[in-house]
Amino acid sequence: MRHLVIGIGELAHLDDGTEGLISGEEMSNDESLISKGLAILIENNLISKIKPEEELIEEYIPSFNQKIEKSNKISITRIKNTVVTHVGRNSIIPGLIDSHTHLLWDGDRSNEVSLRMKGMSYSEISKSGGGITYTVNETRKSTDEKLAKLGKERLKEALRNGTTALEAKSGYGLTTESELKLTSIMNDLSIDEKNPSIDITWMGAHDIPREKHKADYIEELINKQIPEISSQGYARNCDVFCEPGWFTIEETERIIDNASKSGLSIRLHIDEFKEGGGAELAAKKGVDTADHALYSNEEGREKMSKANVIQGFLPGAPYTMGLDKWPPINECIENNQPWTIATDFNPNCRILSIPSIASICVQKLGINPLATLCATTRNAGISVVHRTEKPHGIIKEGYVANLNILNGEKWEGWCLQQGSSPFKATILEGSTVIHSNN
Ligand code: NIG
Ligand code: FE
Repeated sequence: MRHLVIGIGELAHLDDGTEGLISGEEMSNDESLISKGLAILIENNLISKIKPEEELIEEYIPSFNQKIEKSNKISITRIKNTVVTHVGRNSIIPGLIDSHTHLLWDGDRSNEVSLRMKGMSYSEISKSGGGITYTVNETRKSTDEKLAKLGKERLKEALRNGTTALEAKSGYGLTTESELKLTSIMNDLSIDEKNPSIDITWMGAHDIPREKHKADYIEELINKQIPEISSQGYARNCDVFCEPGWFTIEETERIIDNASKSGLSIRLHIDEFKEGGGAELAAKKGVDTADHALYSNEEGREKMSKANVIQGFLPGAPYTMGLDKWPPINECIENNQPWTIATDFNPNCRILSIPSIASICVQKLGINPLATLCATTRNAGISVVHRTEKPHGIIKEGYVANLNILNGEKWEGWCLQQGSSPFKATILEGSTVIHSNN
């Protein structure tokens, strides 16, 4: 079945003719990244043509009655073998790609906000049995059915907020058996085409389980978890919490070297609370993305940029922890360094909405809204592989047909709305999911 999308206001396609990561001034070049008057043809869940609207109507639905559409509602009709979606002159942006989430866990750590307000740090809460340890206990006690249900609800919420693909980490099991269980549940969720696509990351090195000595656990990671995760075949990536107090530079290097040998791609958590040399390691190893990077120094950032390592910024983390420390995104733009933004959804940062994170960037940190959009679509699509293995993140021929229809005619509306979704509908691999058609 063909699907023709017409009646588009502004189209933020983000295709300036170049491929791969976009950085610097190019990220906010609206002349090359946004167009008007175009329609989109979708065939076999992929974008097959983007052309002036009159041309595609003439070619595929010549009998279409172009009455002057006054309503800004989305209307879907069928003309012979073509589904025609008129989007009511609202604007369209690509499906959003959340390149860093901790999707699957059980338990409630809401009390930690009060502990922090009494002066305890993240690290102190963790040492007293809260933090990741608490979530690990609750997740181990949970059932597969409950975790799958929680995952499904969270994916639905993410899709409601325009996320069409995401990266999701294990890391709340911390035994071989429970880590394999988490990656397996994520795999089940990812093959359901009604859900956003999931690029699965094994993060056995998220913390040290309380019942084990660190050295023994690292041996288990290397000799048992990595081989079993790799033969299970669901995780494509490995991530390590490389941070003073968790995994050191040397430990991280040993774990990622072994993971790499087993065929996993590498992502890292670095410099979230302190500058700890993570950026240098990320650059030396040429990892796909080094995330948080909140305390990394300028030299480390330059090294990462030269090694083509993306800085994965997660402003939801300082936001939810009440810190007034923000990633230096405007400096990255000035220095032409590649970057993304993502939610870091986890028990301590319960944000599943990329537009909310983008609103922090745009409305609090003063980042250009188009650059922010490029970060979480085009750039995120480089480190997050889609389940179809087709390219995604740009509205371009040959790319996965993941699109968001806004609730207004101006594309900037995507990042100005906190607490509710700015989207009327999401087209997920060619199928339209209506969120609110008013
Ligand atoms: O990216 N810092 C490590 N992991 C998560 C938080 C995990 C948790 O607190 O449960 C993060 O912020
Ligand atoms: Fe994280």
